[in-house]
Amino acid sequence: MSLPSAMYRVKVPPIKIQGIKTKLVPFIAANITWDGNGTYYEPFMGSGVVGFNLAPERAVFSDVNPHLVNFYRAIQSGEVTAWKVRDYLEEEAPKLAHTPADKHSYYYEVRERFNATANPLDFLFLQRSNFNGMMRFNSSGLYNVPFCRKPERFKPALITKIVNQVHWVEKLLARHPQWQFQLADFSDTINCAEAGDFIYLDPPYIDRHDEYFSTWDHGKADLLARIVQGSDAGYALSMWHSNEYRENSHLESWSGEVRTTEHFYHVGASEKNRNAMTEALVISPANAVPLDDVQPLTQRVKCPGFCS
Ligand SMILES: C[S@@+](CC[C@H](N)C(=O)[O-])C[C@H]1O[C@@H](n2cnc3c(N)ncnc32)[C@H](O)[C@@H]1O
Repeated sequence: MSLPSAMYRVKVPPIKIQGIKTKLVPFIAANITWDGNGTYYEPFMGSGVVGFNLAPERAVFSDVNPHLVNFYRAIQSGEVTAWKVRDYLEEEAPKLAHTPADKHSYYYEVRERFNATANPLDFLFLQRSNFNGMMRFNSSGLYNVPFCRKPERFKPALITKIVNQVHWVEKLLARHPQWQFQLADFSDTINCAEAGDFIYLDPPYIDRHDEYFSTWDHGKADLLARIVQGSDAGYALSMWHSNEYRENSHLESWSGEVRTTEHFYHVGASEKNRNAMTEALVISPANAVPLDDVQPLTQRVKCPGFCS
């Protein structure tokens, strides 16, 4: 099997998105076991960080946000390469730097251009210079996240970092010609999964209307629980478990094994606004690593199943 036998360092993809699971990848990898013989499905792919690091042989990544899907398809087709990203950012960086941090920033010119053309390079530019890695669209589907107000944003070191991230995904996609990126509602993707397949789920938080490309509500969350638990495929679901005020009652709709870990997130830029959140991973029983065998959460995670 072509899967890695250990994850030495979690790699970060070029697209930033709120709710990105980079820090939780070791926890997820350490708790799930799957023989990797079927297809891996990720119906809420977002940045793709989880599946890209698990690197199964066959995978279907999907999302309702067409720009995420287009971006990775553009890497797959060679329309976006690490070198094209370097050329593009080196040309755009000074234009941004020479405009003010306010509404006259060059950022807004790129935003307007992106809303007219959906260019994947402009999408990358916006997602790496916007406010807090937000992904937000208005009711007409137009990207409307404001600028992070740092005209010097694209310093040479950041450009190199982004280029390396694109290069990593480029190599990954070249090594996995069977990976597919699909624009699809979660239900259509999950309905394709069969016995022997594995589905990793990371739906949005319920009732956050301003995020992503569509809203997520109790009806959709209930439908998700029903179709996933009615499927013959294995699954793991990421979801918040509790914070200092309350527990997530939606977890009652899931009957799998629940594993938890503490996670910190920041509200705004200040270090002191660090809020603790307990994150849950609900796993179909056959795919949960026995508790005694779960490796400690270090960067060097042995992945028992994905990586056997
Ligand atoms: C929490 S984010 C996923 C983050 C991802 N795991 C990561 O680490 O980057 C949720 C994703 O679900 C997508 N989404 C929202 N509603 C959806 C739906 N009905 N079907 C499929 N994807 C949906 C959003 O566009 C967003 O990319």
